[in-house]
Amino acid sequence: MYRAARIVILTGAGISAESGLRTFRGADGLWENHRVQEVATPEAFHQDPELVYRFYNERRRSLATVQPNAAHLALARLEHEWGGDLLLVTQNVDDLHGRAGSRNLLHMHGELLKGRCLDCRAVRAWPGDMDQTSRCLSCGGGPMRPHIVWFGEMPLETTRIYQALDRCDLFVAIGTSGHVYPAAGFVEAVGPGARTLELNLEPSLVASAFQRSLTGRATDLVPTFVNELLGP
Ligand code: OAD
Repeated sequence: MYRAARIVILTGAGISAESGLRTFRGADGLWENHRVQEVATPEAFHQDPELVYRFYNERRRSLATVQPNAAHLALARLEHEWGGDLLLVTQNVDDLHGRAGSRNLLHMHGELLKGRCLDCRAVRAWPGDMDQTSRCLSCGGGPMRPHIVWFGEMPLETTRIYQALDRCDLFVAIGTSGHVYPAAGFVEAVGPGARTLELNLEPSLVASAFQRSLTGRATDLVPTFVNELLGP
């Protein structure tokens, strides 16, 4: 059904929802009981670092209580069994794609399990809690911050992502609301002739830019899509 040699897949919080991680734009407009400006901006970190560290410590700890679901596993299977190129770009800061087995994976909004030095900018694995006493082991003393792209900061790996979008034959967005750019604009950045597909619980804000938009749960839609692509 989909003939493609090069695929780019974008995922958002909706793919991890059925693993038990909350999405950002739930009905109450709050994110884990905080306004996003209180915890996810450089200004918030400057004004109340303790709150921001605590918030991300809680998010980091919550990863130990969740598992990849059928949608994460199906995308990992696609990467391993697909003969062509596949780039998985996630806006999620959880580690569920990696734990499911995806390897050609870019975390454009950072990763909960990494920290970044405020002095030398080195990025390191950071599995435990972080606070104002946390220090960089690369430069021997710089203070650490969560390796998360906050509002007002540049997403990561955009050059590689736009190159892949330009060359792809198929672009698929899964579980993302289309509120946050540049990811919401990726569907407009695909090369000529590329097919575009959205898989989401409800039509996203940018659903009309896709050739096809299917609504349903990621754990239903994604395995079905992967089975169709891989064939019998
Ligand atoms: P959102 O919370 O904005 O959107 C999640 C989308 O997933 C919504 O459109 C839901 O309808 C859909 N959804 C929920 N459950 C689903 C399910 N079981 N199956 C399929 N779809 C489901 O999350 P994102 O679009 O990922 O940025 O948000 C984008 C960025 O905004 C995040 O990466 C984060 C946030 O601010 C940063 O932290 C920089």
